[in-house]
Amino acid sequence: MGYTILEDISERKANERVKVETAAQKDEFINILSHELKTPLTTIKAVHQILETVVTEEKSYHVLLRKASHHIERLERLIADLVDTTKLYAGQVVLTTARFNFSQLLQDCVSSAQMIHSKHVISLENPINIRITGDRFRLEQVIGNLIDNAVKYSPGAKALIIKGSFDQKNIKVSVQDFGIGIDDKNIARLFERFYRVDHTTVRFSGMGMGLYIVSEIIKKHAGQFGVDSEIGKGSTFWFSLPRMADDEKAQDEKKIESYRILESFSSRCILSNWDCNHFEQPHA
Ligand SMILES: Nc1ncnc2c1ncn2[C@@H]1O[C@H](COP(=O)(O)OP(=O)(O)OP(=O)(O)O)[C@@H](O)[C@H]1O
Ligand SMILES: [Mg+2]
Repeated sequence: MGYTILEDISERKANERVKVETAAQKDEFINILSHELKTPLTTIKAVHQILETVVTEEKSYHVLLRKASHHIERLERLIADLVDTTKLYAGQVVLTTARFNFSQLLQDCVSSAQMIHSKHVISLENPINIRITGDRFRLEQVIGNLIDNAVKYSPGAKALIIKGSFDQKNIKVSVQDFGIGIDDKNIARLFERFYRVDHTTVRFSGMGMGLYIVSEIIKKHAGQFGVDSEIGKGSTFWFSLPRMADDEKAQDEKKIESYRILESFSSRCILSNWDCNHFEQPHA
């Protein structure tokens, strides 16, 4: 009996070791691959830019160049996602935080997505007029990934609704589509690295990185994320970010500012006192 338990534990440990080693090999492979892809892509991009300036007349060439440019962008994004995925997994991504206007970010994301995905109608309801502290670039990536998925997985429906809301503790953003939806049994694994729902792999291209990147960035902001979905009806992906830390920081900033005003006021008083004394003393 005791022997069996010991054997089970050592077998489990061996399995775990294999899993860790396989993951490490996969990451190393991805690192090499993305590095090797970057170099030729830089050259292709440079040649494309030259061609764009040279080709001025023939309209059909412009159409071809635009197509090429679209595919270059796709490749660039794919490589960037590969690099981000391995870096996030290795805990090597550090947020660059600053205070910024979150409402502006939402509006920017929606208008650039609308330009790229012209077949969908993307509406923004309640853009949350609020400033927060966070990594603007990374949060833009989160919203971009959710909108990209919403577009990709709703080929038969036009509308997308982005909503913002906030209460005393959190701000919340949701991205709703009316597309293919997701089975309950798949929901729990959606945010895993490289996970894709079986039946989507044939119809839709992708690597299963977008939602993993979303989840890791939101976790780094101490936020939460989730999805409500129904097969055939559509999905609503959402994330929330805490405001508490933000409020405390804002109050700290206010305190520092009032202290500065007070300090400059008192130093002016000291200076004027000195001046008064200086001029009054001769009369004394
Ligand atoms: N809005 C959505 N509607 C239906 N299914 C979705 C939606 N968003 C994600 N999924 C499912 O979750 C899986 C994981 O999504 P994720 O964004 O991580 O990867 P991907 O879109 O397949 O590829 P990538 O984002 O790397 O290009 C998808 O393959 C798809 O099956
Ligand atoms: Mg995706």
